[in-house]
Amino acid sequence: MRIPVIAGNWKLFKKTAEALRLVQELSPLVADARGVEIVLAPSFTVLGPVRSLLNDSSISIAGQDCFWEDEGAYTGEVSPGMLVDAGCSHVIIGHSERRHFFGETDETVNKKIRAAIRAGLTAIVCIGETLQERERNETFDILERQIKTGLRNLSTDEMEKVLLAYEPVWAIGTGKTATDEQAQEAHAFIRRLVAEYFSGPVADGLRILYGGSVKPDNIRSLMTQPDVDGALVGGASLTAESFAAIIHYQK
Ligand code: 13P
Repeated sequence: MRIPVIAGNWKLFKKTAEALRLVQELSPLVADARGVEIVLAPSFTVLGPVRSLLNDSSISIAGQDCFWEDEGAYTGEVSPGMLVDAGCSHVIIGHSERRHFFGETDETVNKKIRAAIRAGLTAIVCIGETLQERERNETFDILERQIKTGLRNLSTDEMEKVLLAYEPVWAIGTGKTATDEQAQEAHAFIRRLVAEYFSGPVADGLRILYGGSVKPDNIRSLMTQPDVDGALVGGASLTAESFAAIIHYQK
């Protein structure tokens, strides 16, 4: 049984007061949520305040990125150890916006995953094809390259600290969700690859989240797909009502 994960990626939104208000509104709405892991990924500057407010809640927090060195002369970077210090248990790595705007590659993704796991974090590793790649029928090749290089040299133990997020770039922030069948097809392919590169048990235990225009009205059918184990939510995680409705998809 894979416990579903619903993660909210706040991207470049929410200053302190707004972030705290969102958490205050969300917490009571999801206090009774059972059988689902909840993760919030605020921006770096509000991790501390959000963590303090969550106190002993079961909601986890994540960085939206990290560097691969623990410390050093790397102006502007945040290390995995610093995320742990700020109260994070998770970190998002390789989001398509980082690949697109900040030159993230499968090689840097690999270094970051390994550093994150070394520091004790769970890595939420994002993969997915662009519209052009899908139209050229390259989806599976792209996913294979991202997994092969991104997860290179990880041990089966380390894979226990990895969640994959399939986020087709054309579905992010566009209101265009992948159909249930498209999501299931990609997730099943990803799981088969992980079985091949690692092992059957690693693949069986791996949680694969779907991301891209997840909303309260499409989460339930996405979650009925056998290989969809959760969601990485952008826009709809920015208001307590919609994120809580996604978390309560089973109701
Ligand atoms: P949207 O839910 O806004 O499409 O964003 C998805 C995403 O990028 C989550 O990481």
